[in-house]
Amino acid sequence: MINVVLCGGNGTRLWPLSRTRYPKQFNKFISDRSLFQMTVERNRPLCDNIFVVSNEEQYFLALDHLDEIGAKAGQFLLEPVGRNTAPAIALASLAANRNELILVTPSDHIIKNEREYARVIELAKSMAEEGNIVTFGITPSHAETGYGYIESDGYKVISFREKPDLYTAEQYVSSGRYYWNSGMFLFKAGVFLNELETYSPVIYQRSVAAFENSKKNNDIIRIQKNDMESIPSDSIDYAVMEKSENVKVIPSNIGWSDLGSFEALYEELPKDEYGNTEAKQFIGIDSSNNMVLSHNRMVTTVDVNDLMIVDTPDALLVSKRGSSQKVREIVKELKQSK
Ligand code: GDD
Ligand code: MG
Repeated sequence: MINVVLCGGNGTRLWPLSRTRYPKQFNKFISDRSLFQMTVERNRPLCDNIFVVSNEEQYFLALDHLDEIGAKAGQFLLEPVGRNTAPAIALASLAANRNELILVTPSDHIIKNEREYARVIELAKSMAEEGNIVTFGITPSHAETGYGYIESDGYKVISFREKPDLYTAEQYVSSGRYYWNSGMFLFKAGVFLNELETYSPVIYQRSVAAFENSKKNNDIIRIQKNDMESIPSDSIDYAVMEKSENVKVIPSNIGWSDLGSFEALYEELPKDEYGNTEAKQFIGIDSSNNMVLSHNRMVTTVDVNDLMIVDTPDALLVSKRGSSQKVREIVKELKQSK
């Protein structure tokens, strides 16, 4: 089985921790390992090979992070521009043998229960061998609109709905029939490519053309810029998962968290008795429930609660906790003012 590690997103919701050139999967805010390294270490015992799909700009970063943990990717697929996850997964699948099992994993999640993780992956392998696309279902805790929702009957998937609006998400959660999609997938390369060809033929055809025209050099496949740009940008969730009738879901009680926002990060970080995240560089007087992340400057607060303070060498973010979905708007403004 090949672990395809998706690593091309730029996670604008975690600005200024996450940057275009230094996306969040390479950050070490949870431990001395980056999220990318944690992903590789988690899957290494379960897989025989690693394919990393990333933007060209992140090649050396990814290589360094692999080196640091003594891991090696059998294949790097380098995209000159990102076209979202459907093309990224298609290119990786084309680089594999059609009968090979592929475990697609994002590189920016945490999974705390590794033993249960190994168990659900084993189960998923047997379902994928039978020709299914297997997803991993997380019991929802709230009506999050940034996730995919999976309606199930046992292991069978009745429907898959990516990023519903808030009203719909609330209905789904209260019905008790839906899981969140974890963003990981397990299938045979050929099964995925067939489904992509059926439901999103243009993405399929252009990905095949881009792959055939790519520059292949030992363990590196470089897609050419005009070929990549000709592939429509879409996620696997819209391009295949919402449409395929070949999908299974395994309930996965694996301690999963998508660190997609500062709120999610706050939940995961250790906190002191006042609910402030524990930081060496922080003194809070009558301050509680603050998230303080500082690279090397001392941060101090007086009489403030529920703030997020993220200090990096060249940018500082101060925000109310709970408003972090708006952090994206800062990135948009920054891009416009360039
Ligand atoms: N190589 C490459 N190229 N990787 C990419 C690209 C790209 O163009 N775009 C995104 N990725 C990577 C991201 O770095 C991340 O690791 C993963 O693919 C998923 O992309 P996200 O952009 O983070 O997707 P999402 O969070 O909006 O939604 C997905 O994950 C949710 C769970 O976290 C969906 O699968 C949802 O259904 C799911 O609930
Ligand atoms: Mg994500």
